[in-house]
Amino acid sequence: MVNEKKQVVGVIGAGTMGRGIVQLFAQNGHQVHLYDSAQEAVLSAMSSILQMIDKLANKGRIEQSTATIAKNNLNHAEHIKDLAVCDIVIEAIVENIDIKRSVFQQLEEVVSANCILASNTSSLLIADISAACTLPNRVVGMHFFNPVPLMKLVEIISSVRTSENTLITAQNLINSVGHVAVLAKDQPGFLVNHAGRGLYTEGLRILEEQVASVADIDQVLREACGFKMGPFELLDLTGLDVSGKVMESIYQQFQQEAMFRPSTLVPPRIAANLLGRKTGEGWYQYEDGKKVEDKLSSLPVLSESLSIWIDPDADEYADLRDLFSEAGISVVTEAKQDSILVIQPWGKDVSQVCEDKGLDATRVVAIDPLFKESKRRTIMSTMIVQPEYIANIHASLVRSGHSVTVIKDSPGFISQRVLAVIINIASNIAQRGVASVTDIDIAVKFGLGYPHGPLSWGDKVGTQNIVKILDGLFEVTRDPRYRTSMWLRRRAQLNVSLLTED
Ligand code: NAI
Repeated sequence: MVNEKKQVVGVIGAGTMGRGIVQLFAQNGHQVHLYDSAQEAVLSAMSSILQMIDKLANKGRIEQSTATIAKNNLNHAEHIKDLAVCDIVIEAIVENIDIKRSVFQQLEEVVSANCILASNTSSLLIADISAACTLPNRVVGMHFFNPVPLMKLVEIISSVRTSENTLITAQNLINSVGHVAVLAKDQPGFLVNHAGRGLYTEGLRILEEQVASVADIDQVLREACGFKMGPFELLDLTGLDVSGKVMESIYQQFQQEAMFRPSTLVPPRIAANLLGRKTGEGWYQYEDGKKVEDKLSSLPVLSESLSIWIDPDADEYADLRDLFSEAGISVVTEAKQDSILVIQPWGKDVSQVCEDKGLDATRVVAIDPLFKESKRRTIMSTMIVQPEYIANIHASLVRSGHSVTVIKDSPGFISQRVLAVIINIASNIAQRGVASVTDIDIAVKFGLGYPHGPLSWGDKVGTQNIVKILDGLFEVTRDPRYRTSMWLRRRAQLNVSLLTED
């Protein structure tokens, strides 16, 4: 058997990302040469990588023999010229276009004509970096995620100048170390940061409209939708200063596209140093690094004298009828003067449905039909609803084993809005050919940790439902951020899967 020749990998930048990249390749049998303009950064990186490898071996996560090979694969490049031996050099230095360009120019003077030059930039265009190069066809984006050895996803980004050969070599290299390569075009946010906009922007929009508290929005998105963290918990983890810049930069790079419009709630909080975990306060308060939880509010009491009328158009008509009957409330088919009117809108707020259907808004309570199998249910009503009407629906749901979040009137509650916006953005990514439908789903699952890829998720929930939510949101808000992607609408019209390529 012929042994496949391992490529010699150069890494420039011995910071957070460079260290992880070096460890990944060294552990997988590649000779790695690490260079940094600050010599002490290389020394500190080398010692921390060695420690990390020893730790993994001591814990039995890697074989002792692998650890020995990995350590022998580490080389300290004292000068950029020492990278001349490399087949590929991955740059992970400071995120500054002028400095990156200058480093790529220096590299071109050093490496062979066949050597591939990759950048780990998270926000700059690869074409902008390679514009300074004599051979831009060998320049490619290789966007790793932190921590590199654990985060299996790598976006491979081709600029308009990147050659097919460069792309395939980069892709094969990533696959060879057991990571997952997805291909993305050189567009703002590439794939993951682009697809990840929806959760933040829509979460912030819901907060701006004062539909629900920060904690309620996060809780619904975690417990009903299945996200590991809500948008505000995530913003606190990343730091609002960092996330705020990304939101602003993607919005500007997309020519102020309404879908990515940042929230005005963010700049004053950055100015006030409410950055999140790192400053001890953000959207939440932190004590000893732990989130301070809100106290639980008391549960409402059920008053059984009221009757309930359920809209025959409600998705869960039969289930709700049984649920309320079991709670001892009489369910009527002809609404009485004091009946609670229960509706289940998609993409519309209660006020809109009251107008459309001629319902008495003081008596209407809406239950979110999305994620009806989850333990957490969301209910909402108008500002003129009689409080005991809300309390009764709340209490009935609690009695049947649910947790309940009560929010103010919102077109699409919380879950519908966030999910539809995420799927809409993913559909536009597919429409623009930034990535294949498979790679969009893989990137979001691995890179963002969502419970499903957005396109498969759309299929699960029903594409017609997603279009209904977006159309409802657009009708109620008249905001272009909610205009339905043509790509998505066509698939809903034809009743085909969102995993259907053009
Ligand atoms: P870092 O600040 O931890 O490390 C940067 C390193 O580059 C430093 O050691 C610095 O001495 C070195 N450096 C600066 N200018 C240099 C030059 N001219 N020549 C050689 N070395 C130079 O940065 P970090 O976080 O590792 O980020 C590096 C790159 O990776 C950036 O482009 C960033 O946008 C990107 N990135 C960062 C992620 C993260 O979570 N930190 C995630 C994905 C991408």
